[in-house]
Amino acid sequence: MTTPKPETDRTKKPTVLLVIGMAGSGKTTLMQRLNAHLHAEKKPPYVLNFDPAVANLPYTANIDIRDTVKYKEVMKQYNMGPNGGILTSLNLFTTKFDQVLNLVDKRAPNLDYVLVDTPGQIEVFTWSASGTIITEALAASYPTVVVYVVDTPRSASPATFISNMLYACSIMYKTKLPFILAFNKVDVKPHDFAVEWMTDFEAFQEAARQDTTYMASLTASMSLVLEEFYKTLRVAGLSAISGQGMDGFFQAVDEAVDEYWTEY
Ligand code: GTP
Repeated sequence: MTTPKPETDRTKKPTVLLVIGMAGSGKTTLMQRLNAHLHAEKKPPYVLNFDPAVANLPYTANIDIRDTVKYKEVMKQYNMGPNGGILTSLNLFTTKFDQVLNLVDKRAPNLDYVLVDTPGQIEVFTWSASGTIITEALAASYPTVVVYVVDTPRSASPATFISNMLYACSIMYKTKLPFILAFNKVDVKPHDFAVEWMTDFEAFQEAARQDTTYMASLTASMSLVLEEFYKTLRVAGLSAISGQGMDGFFQAVDEAVDEYWTEY
């Protein structure tokens, strides 16, 4: 166990869903879908946007990093490019994160879920000190689940699939939090192939053999490495656009929360 455990009765704690994924995987659209689903079917969530560079949010955030830091001004002031500006904005915001936690704490007794949107450039959050501080602070107070959004159609070849899984694996080992692989965009391509590749080693090897480049043997070897990783996570197929798969997703969330309380 690396994360200090909150001591209060678990039923009084809202679940934090930390939505992370590659640029364009559908994080913001999924945030909108989860927000709408929770409003319609359960209790309205508390919504946090930590992406300083998003132009338009299709949902209303209770706390929005853009109200505190203007990343374009940060770029000018510190003479930085876009990624440096986003990272520095997140750093500046993190210095005030205790205030964010206070606001969440005040609302927590009336909440079941807190949704967190993260920057489009995944590494700005997952490989920065600020991202780590934010993640650990949330996980120390609330059951926190990483929702790793996968662009399913773009992960349909063995090579892209394995590189996305390796990235997901690195985030899981870095955060050490319960983890859900959310295969998004199943309205375009169902995620059955991914489930098969994760559960049937031979099926993946067969698909990898179709690749005739030097990558094929690397891809095949990597799948062996990832077997352990596959066993420890949950998978949900969904479409942020159509809304299909929401029940399965929230079932995976319930299981992940159980894991938080028993193992972290
Ligand atoms: P960045 O903030 O740039 O990293 O993107 P993001 O991960 O927040 O993705 P975003 O929600 O902006 O979606 C990227 C594109 O994918 C948009 O054109 C969305 O309409 C589309 N998209 C998102 N979810 C789905 C889905 O479930 N199905 C389909 N068909 N398209 C989707």
